[in-house]
Amino acid sequence: MTQQRTLSILKPDATRRNLTGKINSLIEGAGLKIVAQKRLHLSKQQAEAFYAVHKERPFFGELVDFMISGPVVVQVLEGENAVQKNRDIMGATDPKKAEPHTIRAQFAESIEANSVHGSDSLENAKQEISFFFAGIEILP
Ligand code: CMP
Repeated sequence: MTQQRTLSILKPDATRRNLTGKINSLIEGAGLKIVAQKRLHLSKQQAEAFYAVHKERPFFGELVDFMISGPVVVQVLEGENAVQKNRDIMGATDPKKAEPHTIRAQFAESIEANSVHGSDSLENAKQEISFFFAGIEILP
């Protein structure tokens, strides 16, 4: 049994459509515990820094503009194999390719407005969690 933490973001398309409760219900239903959570409106500088790994990609500018188009909810999820489990319940980046019943299959509007972000490795999870949260804000 490997207890892990991962970073989750409910994106502006989800907050705009008042879907945070429905998405949190799917997260908790999968056995993940929300051990930290806050609603933020990212600055351009913060969004660029968070997604710096994608800065050479052709969609970087649009991704940043979308992520600052409204509030987001940033969360730390904890549970057994939390990194992979969260990616499984999110579904594929492109909602057209996402398995039925996943968050993106149910809620995403497009590959860009795809409702949720989740860390893709344990190493990135640690970095992404520390980008948004101090240890004192994480309450198992
Ligand atoms: P996310 O998991 O937040 O990580 C990077 C994001 O870039 C991704 O989800 C998508 O929402 C967004 N994105 C926009 N266009 C593309 C694309 N063509 N390929 C991959 N990701 C894209």
